[in-house]
This record gives sequence, C-alpha cells and structure tokens, in this order.
Amino acid sequence: MTRESLNNSFKQQFDLEAQVFAKSPGRINIIGEHTDYNNGFVLPAAIDKYIYVAIAERADQELHLFSSDYNEYYTTTLSNTDTTATPEWAKYILGVSQIINQKTNNIKGFNLYLAGDVPLGAGLSSSAALSSAVGYALNELFSCGLTRIDLAKIGQQTEHEYIGLKCGIMDQFASVLGKQDHAIQLDCQDLSYQYIPIDWSENEVLLLNTNVKHNLASTAYNDRRNSCEQGVNWVKEKYPHVKSLRDVTISQLDEIVKEKDTDTYTKCRFILEENQRLQDACEALKNRDIKQLGELLFAAHWALSKEYEVSCPELDYLVSKAEHSEYVLGARMMGGGFGGCTINIIKKGMSDAFVAEVSNSYLQEFGFALTPIHINLGEGSSLIN
Ligand code: GLA
Repeated sequence: MTRESLNNSFKQQFDLEAQVFAKSPGRINIIGEHTDYNNGFVLPAAIDKYIYVAIAERADQELHLFSSDYNEYYTTTLSNTDTTATPEWAKYILGVSQIINQKTNNIKGFNLYLAGDVPLGAGLSSSAALSSAVGYALNELFSCGLTRIDLAKIGQQTEHEYIGLKCGIMDQFASVLGKQDHAIQLDCQDLSYQYIPIDWSENEVLLLNTNVKHNLASTAYNDRRNSCEQGVNWVKEKYPHVKSLRDVTISQLDEIVKEKDTDTYTKCRFILEENQRLQDACEALKNRDIKQLGELLFAAHWALSKEYEVSCPELDYLVSKAEHSEYVLGARMMGGGFGGCTINIIKKGMSDAFVAEVSNSYLQEFGFALTPIHINLGEGSSLIN
C-alpha cells in the first residue's frame, strides 16, 4: 500500500489528512518453537506482508479507530479500562497506546486507520504486526523516544495484559527488528541477536495454510508455558541457581522431573532439544547445507507433534506429504501450533508442483481446501514516505 492510498482511505473515514504512515511485517520462523518464553533461541524473519497504519492527532483524548479488514469503526478513550465490549483488533491499539502512555505520558487522542495483507489466524503473527505498527506510528507521532526493542516489549505486554496470551517475544521482535533477506538469531534470555543472511538462490519457502484457525489464547499455549515453569520450579528446589529451562540440563531433568511427572518431563526435554536443533540449524545455514537444515525441520515437527503436542492432524498430514515429496527439503508446523501454516523449504521453482501433489488429497481428507502462501523476506517496522 502506498502512502497516497492510505491517506485517501484515511480521508474517507475521518475527513482530514493523516500525519504519520507506518507499516510492520508478519513473520515466519525457520526453527525454534516455544523456546522464546523459556529464555531460549529463535530464528524468525520478517516477511513481505504488512499491517499498515495511518494516524493523526486529535484535540481531545478520544481514539477513533477504523479497521478495513473488519470494516469496523470503534471509538474509545485513552483512559478506558473496560474492554469487555472492545473488538480484539481494537484492544491491541488501546493496549499499546495505554502502555506507551504509562511509560512516556506523551500520548493524546488520535484517529487511526488500519489495513493489511498479513493473513489473519494463519500463524504469521498478524497481531504482533498490528501492535508493532501501532507502536511505531505512535512513537513517531507523539515523539515518545522509544527504541525498537522497547516497542517489541510493549507489543508483548499488550498481548499478555489485553488478550491474555502469555506469549514470548519472538513475534514482536521479528516484526519490529526484521531485516531484508536475513533471519534473526535471537537469544531470548538477554535479547542479544545477530542477523543471519538467507540466500535461497536454489530454494524457496512456501507456506501452506491448513485453514484451521487456532485460538492460542484460550487453550493449550498457556498450559505449555505452565508445564515448563513447573519443571523449572522442581529443578530449582535442588539447584537454586536455575532461573529458566535455559539453565537446566537433560541430566537434571532425568534426575528430578522424570520421576515427578512424565508429561512435564517430556515438555521440558523438548525445549532443551529444540534449542539444540536451532544451534544445529544455524550451523547448517552458515555451511549452506540446506539438506541438513531440512532434516532438522522435519525432526522439529515430529517433536512438536508427538512430544510438545501442539500440532493437529492437518499439519501432520501436510508434513508427511512433504517428507514423501521429492521437491521438499524440509517442512514443519510453524508458530504456536494447533492450526495455521506449515513452512516448507522447496527446490526452486517446484512450489506449484508440490501444491499440485497435496491440494486435492488434502481437500478429500479434511473436506476443506488448503491455501498456499508465497512469501519473500521483508523489512521490520518502518515509516512509509
Ligand atoms: C506464538 C507466540 C510466540 C512463540 C510461538 C511459538 O507465535 O506468540 O511468542 O511462543 O507461538 O514458538
């Protein structure tokens, strides 16, 4: 979307010109799932699909918001604390505004127009893109002086406090700090990171949306987080220096957690192994060994499915098909799980052939179609000039 088209849409809604235009991307994650809230490593990358925001200051404390995706207009005030009737997309905007205001006291009323092309509910972090775009635009409009990392943390805090999903920081971090043609190897323990160049000259990434909508907030996501915390607490009783699963070894899990509860043990062990897979994947990327990377993706998938138990039959089906296809080097479910997309690393030019291999049988098996999503890597949050 151009600045001009955004401004035209803004004018239609509010009858005046917007002052700031910003966008933030959705993300993929190459490997490292459910590790972020365990102080582990992740390897996400920003994609070329964005949430766009146009915004202008008001003279009062009101927030006038329009979402083009939902074709919905919503009005509230900066001090509103009752969000029971607030649509979810507007909760993100209210949350980001209030949290920035608590930190800076700079926010005033505003009119905001929202649009985007990040598929919703597909595991591409459209919500993180939304909070990042809004934070980025408000930071600019009201000269709040926040850093990109501040904005990522504010997006995460919004998700925790306004939506109730105790997510890690991967999605917001990737959306705000993404870099064209790079993945981010992020250490969620101290937020140190490095950009890893991604050269897919012989391969391409294809996402297959199962079209199973996941509702992470209300379900097992927070349970998984609790299992990991339970494991840490047990280990901590004997080894008090332990703060998170990052400090725990497999032998400590064997010694302490295994006998207390097998399920907690399996979940915690998965996290330690997923961190190791990520390290191996970074090594494979550095060596341009895409075959090895692909094998790590398949291994990660089956561990997410059988051990961490965050997959679903549709995701498993697509990954099995990928394993049997000569075109696919690696595939796995991506993001929180229970639906959304698989990420597939495919031989260059073979995406359509793979889609042809799977789409009919998927439809027959599940009674609804899958949707291929072609992506390129993109840039983190930016102003649109
Ligand atoms: C969701 C959360 C992230 C992360 C992933 C799983 O996308 O928002 O913080 O935990 O699930 O890796």
